Amino acid sequence: MNTVLVTGGAGYIGSHACKALKAAGYVPVTYDNLETGWQDAVRFGPFERGDLLDRVRLDEVFAAHKPIAVMHFAALSQVGEAMSQPGRYWRNNVEGSLTLIEAAVAAGCLNFVFSSTCATYGEHDNVVLDENTPQMPLNAYGASKRAIEDILRDFEAAHGLRHVIFRYFNVAGADPEAEIGEHHRPETHLIPIMLEAIDGKRDALTVFGTDYDTPDGTCIRDYVHVSDLVDAHLLGLQWLRDNKGSKVFNLGTGSGFSVREVIDHSRSVTNREVPYVTGPRRAGDATKLVSGSVLAEQELGWKPSRSDLRTMIADAWRWHEAGHYDK
Ligand code: UFG
Repeated sequence: MNTVLVTGGAGYIGSHACKALKAAGYVPVTYDNLETGWQDAVRFGPFERGDLLDRVRLDEVFAAHKPIAVMHFAALSQVGEAMSQPGRYWRNNVEGSLTLIEAAVAAGCLNFVFSSTCATYGEHDNVVLDENTPQMPLNAYGASKRAIEDILRDFEAAHGLRHVIFRYFNVAGADPEAEIGEHHRPETHLIPIMLEAIDGKRDALTVFGTDYDTPDGTCIRDYVHVSDLVDAHLLGLQWLRDNKGSKVFNLGTGSGFSVREVIDHSRSVTNREVPYVTGPRRAGDATKLVSGSVLAEQELGWKPSRSDLRTMIADAWRWHEAGHYDK
């Protein structure tokens, strides 16, 4: 059996990756400290509790499971928090990833799939964001991810660590079978917050900024379904196993939606009013982040099938109504 070590496998994207890996015949071993993840979300393979900064524990887990690859999702990932607590982002994300990468190399596990982000690009006026766009992150979250990309390149040159770097745009939706979904505590992401407001679990969504240079004044993002995103990871893993080298891929659809457009779609999908108020801009937010790349389609054969906004909101709503994990 081929085993894959999935850091952050108890989190939103990592748990969906575990489900997809299991369906494809792999054994996904979750490595997670449960700081932001959910034990209930670990349903598709073994669970090893541990921290990225704990090299001894990592060595134990590599020795016990002998993975053929690492999928590295574990990270702190909130832009707002990264602005106020940059040290946590540098330590956990960069030092933690370096510790993991060193442990992987020491164990001879030389296939590595890394979750990076379009937040590494920062603000670019009227530029189509492709993999060659200069990376100028606006916050410590994006900066920490860019630094990890650099570490991977150095470790490829020195130690032959083959890697696929995926720069995610905005991941949304939930498992179409509503077995797992998006659940953060506290929640900071647009779609789950909006669904909570629709459902009366919070008073209202606050729209962060209505004075951006966009047609309706609110920020524009490129939303991609979590199931499509993890499909790309399986294709990336196969690409690595075929010894194709190392590469960076954007994962977005190329379509941008403003916050107001997301609100309008949610109203129509759920048939409910969306209680919202408008507020000031959130520090660290870029005006517009939309992918302009088809490299993942061309090179990996990736074909997103659920990444239209209605399906993403409908799947997230179904999961929202099905309930949440308990710690
Ligand atoms: N937004 C609101 N109100 C909210 C929450 C969000 O108006 O209560 C707005 C944000 O200002 C932004 C958009 O909705 O314009 C999306 O915000 P999210 O917090 O859902 O997502 P982000 O774009 O900030 O960040 C997400 C992930 C990051 C990833 C980034 C790339 O959290 O990991 O997408 O854009 F890097």
